[in-house]
Amino acid sequence: MELYQRIFEICLQRGFFCPSAEIYGSLAGFYDYGPIGFRIVEKMKQLWREKFVIQPGFVEIKTSLILPKKVLEASGHVKNFSDPVVFCKKEKKAFRADQLLANYGEFHHFANLEELKEKFKKLKILCPDCKSELSEPTTFNLMFGTTAGAIDPAEVYLRPETAQGIFLNFKRVFLQAGSKLPLAIAQAGPSFRNEVSPRKGLIRLREFEQMELEYFFNPKKPEFEGFEKFASKKIIFKLNNQEKQELSLKQALEKKLVPNQIFSTFLLWQQELFLSWGIDQKKLWFKIIPKQELPHYSLCNVDAEVSTSYGEIELSGTSYRTDFDLSSHQNYSKENLEVLDEETKTKFIPHVIEPSIGLDRSFYTVLEHCYREKSKTKDWEWFAFPPAIAPYSAAVFPLMKKDGLDSLAKEVYLLLKQNKIDCYYSDVGSIGKRYARADEIGVPYCLTIDYDSLEKNDLTLRFRDDGKQIRLAINVLASKILELKEKGLTSLEQ
Ligand code: ATP
Ligand code: GLY
Repeated sequence: MELYQRIFEICLQRGFFCPSAEIYGSLAGFYDYGPIGFRIVEKMKQLWREKFVIQPGFVEIKTSLILPKKVLEASGHVKNFSDPVVFCKKEKKAFRADQLLANYGEFHHFANLEELKEKFKKLKILCPDCKSELSEPTTFNLMFGTTAGAIDPAEVYLRPETAQGIFLNFKRVFLQAGSKLPLAIAQAGPSFRNEVSPRKGLIRLREFEQMELEYFFNPKKPEFEGFEKFASKKIIFKLNNQEKQELSLKQALEKKLVPNQIFSTFLLWQQELFLSWGIDQKKLWFKIIPKQELPHYSLCNVDAEVSTSYGEIELSGTSYRTDFDLSSHQNYSKENLEVLDEETKTKFIPHVIEPSIGLDRSFYTVLEHCYREKSKTKDWEWFAFPPAIAPYSAAVFPLMKKDGLDSLAKEVYLLLKQNKIDCYYSDVGSIGKRYARADEIGVPYCLTIDYDSLEKNDLTLRFRDDGKQIRLAINVLASKILELKEKGLTSLEQ
C-alpha cells in the first residue's frame, strides 16, 4: 500500500478529513475537514499569520469570494486561466494534456495549443486508462461562473485566487495606512478552480484555501528593512529543473537567482514557516522557474516544492508580479491607482511581490512528514506534530473513573483551559488505550491523575515521542506546558 493510501485511511478514521457530500457519493476535488483536521489547519494558518502578517506595516483583510466578470477580465483570468485538456473518445473522461505528455517524458510548458496538438499527433498518445483514442487538445477555463441577482443578472465568478481582492482594496488600505510604501496586505481564504482531473486527495482540489500576501513597494527601493539579519541564512534552491544547491540569501542575490531582498526574505520566511509546521527540511527545496516558463507579467517565480508519496508537490509560488495587476485594474476600472513618490514628486504604480501558499497541500504534506509507523516501543501508528500545530496541546486522564480521581482530573482540565491551553478530558477505556488514542492524533502531552495525586496534588506528564513520564506539581503545570510547547519539546530526552 502506498503511504498516501494509508494516510487517507487514517484520516477517515480519526477525523482529519473526508470527501465532502460523502453520503451522496461525493464529488471529486471537494473535501471536508473533521474535528481533528480542522484544529490543525487553523493552527497552521495562525503560524502563517505570526510569520507573514504580524509585522510592522503588514495588514490582513478578508474580501468577497465572488467577483464581477470585469475584475477577472482585467486580471487576465477570463482569457488565460485555462488548462489544456483531452477527452477519451470512448469513456467520459478528461485528462490534463500537459500531464499526459509528461508521462511520455515531454515536460511541456503549456504556452501554445497548436504545438501541443502537434505533439499529441506525433506521439499518438492514447487514453491512459482504456487505451482508446483521445480528442485533440483544447483549452478549458478553470473558473466557476454563475450569475448574481434576479433582474439583469450580473455575470460573476468564484475567485480563482485570493490576490485579486487585495488589488481591488489597495487604494483604500493604502490611504488608511498613511499613504506610505512599502505596504503589505495579506489574505487567507478559499479559492476555487474547476480542475480538470482532481485525483490526488487534498493536493488538487476544486475548492481550497490559500494564504497570500501582496507586498507593494517602490521598484526603485527594493530593500527590505532588517535584511542584514537574514542575509546569511540558507535555503536549498533547485536550478535548471534538476541541480540542487544550498545558498545563503546573499549568495542567491549575487547570483541573480532572485530579484531583490524582499523576494529572498519571503522565501526564507516560507522555509521557516514550513519547518515550524513539521515539514521535513530534507524534503523541501525552492525551484527557480526557468525564464521561458514565467507568466507574461512576472519577472521571477520560485515554487516551494516537497517530496511526498504522490511525488514532488508545489506548496507555494512566489512571484514578482511587477505593476501588472494594479495597472490592468487601473485601465479597466478607470480608477487612478498611482501613488506619489515623495522624493521625486512623480507618480507611479507600485510593484508587487507575492508569496502564495496553499493550506490544504501543506496540511497533507505535514501529515506525511509527521507520520510514524508502529515500532518496538509503540504498537500503533502516530503523528509527530510540533506542539504548535497539534490538534490539542494536552490530554487529561484520571487513572480510574472513581475515588475522586475523575473530579480532580476535571479540575486540572478547567485549570488548563483557564490558562488558554487547549486540551481534552477522557475517562473512557484503559489508560494504555487512552495514551494510544492521544498519540494517534499527535497530542504531545498526556496528564494522568493517580492515587498519589490526591495526596500530593501532583500528576504525571507523559511525553508523546518516547512515552517517558515525569511527576509535576499541579500548581506549576500550566507554566510547564507552555514552556515545553514554546520549546517544541516532545520527549523527555530532547
Ligand atoms: P499547480 O501547478 O499544482 O496547478 P499552480 O501553479 O496553479 O499549482 P498557483 O496558481 O501558484 O498554483 O497557486 C498558489 C498555491 O495555491 C499553490 O502553490 C498551491 O499550494 C495552491 N493551489 C493551487 N491550486 C490548487 C488546487 N487545485 N488544490 C489545492 N491547492 C492548490
Ligand atoms: N495568486 C497566485 C495564484 O493563485 O496563482
